[in-house]
Amino acid sequence: MMISETSKGKFITMEGIDGAGKSTHLNWLADFFRSRGKTVVVTREPGGTRLGERLRELLLDNYQTMHGETEALLMFAARREHLDKVIVPALDQGNWVISDRFTDASFAYQGGGRGLPIQKLEVLEHWVQGLFQPDLTLYLDVTVELGRQRTSAIKTADRFEKERDEFFQRVRECYLERARKFPQRIRVINANLPLEQVNKSIEETIISFCK
Ligand code: TMP
Repeated sequence: MMISETSKGKFITMEGIDGAGKSTHLNWLADFFRSRGKTVVVTREPGGTRLGERLRELLLDNYQTMHGETEALLMFAARREHLDKVIVPALDQGNWVISDRFTDASFAYQGGGRGLPIQKLEVLEHWVQGLFQPDLTLYLDVTVELGRQRTSAIKTADRFEKERDEFFQRVRECYLERARKFPQRIRVINANLPLEQVNKSIEETIISFCK
């Protein structure tokens, strides 16, 4: 799958621990690009396709137990479908694709959070997407305490949200480590600040990316 050679549009991903405020900023970002004449496809992981959304239900279901490796395999299975049915076709048509999470989440949650070996995740990454990577990843960084406050205010916790603070601490550290490893692609946004300030720094990042 030689995705990167055929892509014409741009692929942007949003990442962060639960409660980082991705959805709000993602909608703003989509409007920002649309107002500049781009055709934007907004999607999410796990999900984005019919099969992916069904896998999402199982993955987030509080009553569903599964081995950490099963969880990782299902995340990548949903991703394979997502790339094939949504992401690659949209990019090939010159659209801009914004995804609420992508592979960095598997490294952070299944690698950092669940403690799966990174090498195993790298094998899956290579299998499912070859060398394909997002053009830009915005990582919204919040403290575990603030993320927790924001999620518990919105809804009942899903299978991930009910994890302990230490889990999210490891997830956050893993995201930050990846941001250090891939500084060109992953930009860290301080999402502990008030909404308008977070918005401002996303805008600045995007404007410099588009130059
Ligand atoms: P969301 O709540 O941001 O929509 O994401 C659903 C949950 O799935 C979130 O808790 C993070 C988790 N997740 C993983 O554990 N691994 C992955 O690869 C992806 C895409 C999401």
